[in-house]
Amino acid sequence: MPNFYATTPIYYVNDRPHIGHAYTTVLTDVLTRYHKLFGYDAFFMTGVDEHGQKVQKAAATRGISPQQHVDEYSEHFRNLWPKLNIDYGYFIRTTDDYHKKFVQDSLQVLYDKGEIYSKEYSGWYSVGEERFFEESELVDGKDPISGRAVEWLCEKNYFFKMSKYQQRLIDYINENPNWILPDFRRNEVLGFLKKPLNDLCISRPKSRLAWGIPIPFDEEFVTYVWVDALENYISGVKDRKHKDGSPFWPADFHIIGKDILTTHCIYWPTIIMAMGWELPKHVLAHGWWLIDGSKMSKTSGTGVNPMDYVDTYGVDVFRYFLIREMVVGLDATFAHDSFVRRINSDLANDLGNGLNRIHKLTLTNFDGKIPAPVESGEQEAELLSYSQKATQFAKENIGEAKLSLVVEEILNSVKALNRYLEITAPWKLAKSTEQKDKDKLATVLYTGAEVLRIAISLLSPIMPQKMEQGRLMLGAGDGPLKGGEVLGKGEALFPRIQEEKE
Ligand code: MSP
Repeated sequence: MPNFYATTPIYYVNDRPHIGHAYTTVLTDVLTRYHKLFGYDAFFMTGVDEHGQKVQKAAATRGISPQQHVDEYSEHFRNLWPKLNIDYGYFIRTTDDYHKKFVQDSLQVLYDKGEIYSKEYSGWYSVGEERFFEESELVDGKDPISGRAVEWLCEKNYFFKMSKYQQRLIDYINENPNWILPDFRRNEVLGFLKKPLNDLCISRPKSRLAWGIPIPFDEEFVTYVWVDALENYISGVKDRKHKDGSPFWPADFHIIGKDILTTHCIYWPTIIMAMGWELPKHVLAHGWWLIDGSKMSKTSGTGVNPMDYVDTYGVDVFRYFLIREMVVGLDATFAHDSFVRRINSDLANDLGNGLNRIHKLTLTNFDGKIPAPVESGEQEAELLSYSQKATQFAKENIGEAKLSLVVEEILNSVKALNRYLEITAPWKLAKSTEQKDKDKLATVLYTGAEVLRIAISLLSPIMPQKMEQGRLMLGAGDGPLKGGEVLGKGEALFPRIQEEKE
């Protein structure tokens, strides 16, 4: 049994979960479920990123301790996932003791190896932006982003020798063209690596930021939150094994948004190289969900809050829309009209209708049992070839997460089924008394049910609940239909979304 271990980013608990968090997690869940479907021992980890300035600030604003804040806010994430049918294997929190110890041990190793050094750094510090600026970046002597005053700070910090690994990283990316997906993101990283890489400041003085993992070799400092966060991918699974006994690390996929490409494709691999660990096998970066054309994560000006769609229309159609609408890698727009159009045309019209027709005709003509086919001819072979193509396509393209295309192939098989029903007109065959028509009816209903069974199975990673209901409606088990399966109760799985007339 092949193995699969994927990760989502761990989310900052300074905010409530929104469409961005939901999408990355649904995408990772769907990919993991596909691997399970295709026989992998598949697992994914998600969790929360609990240290750092953002979280410290969020707690201060609420007038509570950071620990109290993270205990509360991490639950918002943990509680959302079952609601979105997310079947994660483990939920990590970076305030857990074992994680803190893992990060401290690794920093000590790097320090002992001479990979970390301390240096005085001085520059213009902006309290608002929590970062240093070069003299040349200032606008009228002020912070170029917030426009607020800056102060001259002289600070000691610890640096990781990231620059030392620049050429090795470039070579690795060139030799492993599939490491960063999609390929235009690889080119972005290579472009970034054309400039000399600086060393990475991996500490924050406690006087400025107290909420972090203490640096083991200097009690005046805590660890920079990204070093802490990235190591979750290993610390969270270090004691776990796949069923065949092999370790989880290296991960097969880090699934991330495009905004955190540099941290995952430059900071992380260079730290890994310095530690002598193995690199993850792939980093897959998806694009942004836009609402009204802007990088909105919550309610837009028009009042669209994507997360409300889960309650209004159901979790499975929400998941379907996210997976079908976004070409992994590119940005996509969350618009009400396209949501309604997709659900009505793909799910209510194509899949829902096909299923209802087959179910109803089988119920009335064969006593609620799938008939055995009598004579399969060219028409049936052609129809089934769509299902075979979809299955093959899914197996070949899951590895690169080309999910919108996979869904399109599956829906093609369902459309082909509806065309086949129009041509063979089983409702007419059902009225005939001739044996050859009765035989043809059995063949048509059997073949139609088998095409649906395959489509339902292939869509189950995306819509687990609805597809389980669909499977029960057909009375299907694990393998191909044989005839004789007893139908379950008929249900309208995908009611059309009726828009109110103006
Ligand atoms: N804590 C860091 C990740 C550390 S991983 C070792 C972080 N957290 S985050 O909560 O700010 O964001 C997490 C993810 O949400 C990112 O992958 C980001 O791309 C994604 N999204 C946030 N808003 C988004 C959209 N509007 N659309 C799609 N995804 C976006 O970064």
